[in-house]
Amino acid sequence: MPKKQQPLAIFQSLRKDAFEALDEAADFESVHKVESDYLGKKGRLTNILKSLKEMPSAERKVMGSTANALKKEIEGKIKLKKDEMKEKVSGRPTSHWIDVTVPGKKILRGHFHPLSRILREVTAIFESMGFEVAEGPEAETEYYNFDALNMPKNHPSRNLMDTFWLRRPAKAEVGAPTEASELKNKSRYLLLRTHTSPMEVRYMEKNSPPLRIIAPGRCFRYEATDATHDIQFYQLEGLMIGEKISLANLKGTLEIFFRKLFKNKNLQVRFRPSYFPFVEPGVEVDIKLDSESEWMEIAGAGMTHPEVLKNVKLNPSIWQGFAFGLGLDRIAMTKYKIDDIRLFYGGDLRFINQF
Ligand code: FA5
Repeated sequence: MPKKQQPLAIFQSLRKDAFEALDEAADFESVHKVESDYLGKKGRLTNILKSLKEMPSAERKVMGSTANALKKEIEGKIKLKKDEMKEKVSGRPTSHWIDVTVPGKKILRGHFHPLSRILREVTAIFESMGFEVAEGPEAETEYYNFDALNMPKNHPSRNLMDTFWLRRPAKAEVGAPTEASELKNKSRYLLLRTHTSPMEVRYMEKNSPPLRIIAPGRCFRYEATDATHDIQFYQLEGLMIGEKISLANLKGTLEIFFRKLFKNKNLQVRFRPSYFPFVEPGVEVDIKLDSESEWMEIAGAGMTHPEVLKNVKLNPSIWQGFAFGLGLDRIAMTKYKIDDIRLFYGGDLRFINQF
């Protein structure tokens, strides 16, 4: 009958066998085999650990701590062996080992500025309603910004929009202009456009009606800033010219647009009489989101003035149309609940990153 091994001697021989087997292991498969032979579900050391619960408590204490210490030792040796092998295979230390199963680092992606977002949304809605997009210069001539829009020189209506002048006329150039010389010198006086309405004229000069366009763009006004006014802001001009266009078409178009934008079928649009030299009648457009909310002023609009049509050689007794100018910043403020327009241009990442 073989002599019964002393409990601690069992660990010594188990340790010797495991370490020898690991030393001899020449590939990953052999290392895995040692791991499962000693530490696997039915491994030699695992079996000892399982049998602990049947031992008297004093013996269990000694055997338990010895078995756990040996387990850690064998695990350490196995890890060392695996690392050596990985290094051999890759030619790189394991600290540089690439674990292809680790989830990738999140790449920081750019995102749209809230004004770009609103511009894209608004443009998509008007495109779905058959409007084409037209674009024009921010540095505009006095002719397109004012004269062609029925705002002649020295007319008080020019004071409605304080202007950044880029090139003032030289004294010698100022005189009593005849209509012909005025048109010839259309591009002599440059300014930063105060609204997108010049695009109405530019587009109608080159395209024949019937037509419907939107012209989004940046505008500039030389005025004091506050929560709802900045020196630069975005407008979106709308223009529809045809043979039977009425104020009802304007109201219907704006109603459909705003209901789509705010995803709100109950949104109401109201017109208040107003004055813009390039429309007759002119209206101020207000919207109301629901019965609880206040009316908000959101755009200027009206029926295209016969003088504007004449300036682009269209006969006002045949062609009529409507135009509107939406303040995109104000729309974005309403939609995203922003209470100060200056945040859009402040460059504060804490604000921008919320979008
Ligand atoms: C105009 O600029 C006209 N061109 C609009 C128009 C077009 C009328 C076609 C008739 C026909 P107004 O100055 O009201 O109108 O400006 C239109 C919108 O631009 C305003 O309702 C407002 O939303 C926005 N806006 C005007 N000034 C500023 C400013 N300083 N800062 C931010 N938004 C502004």
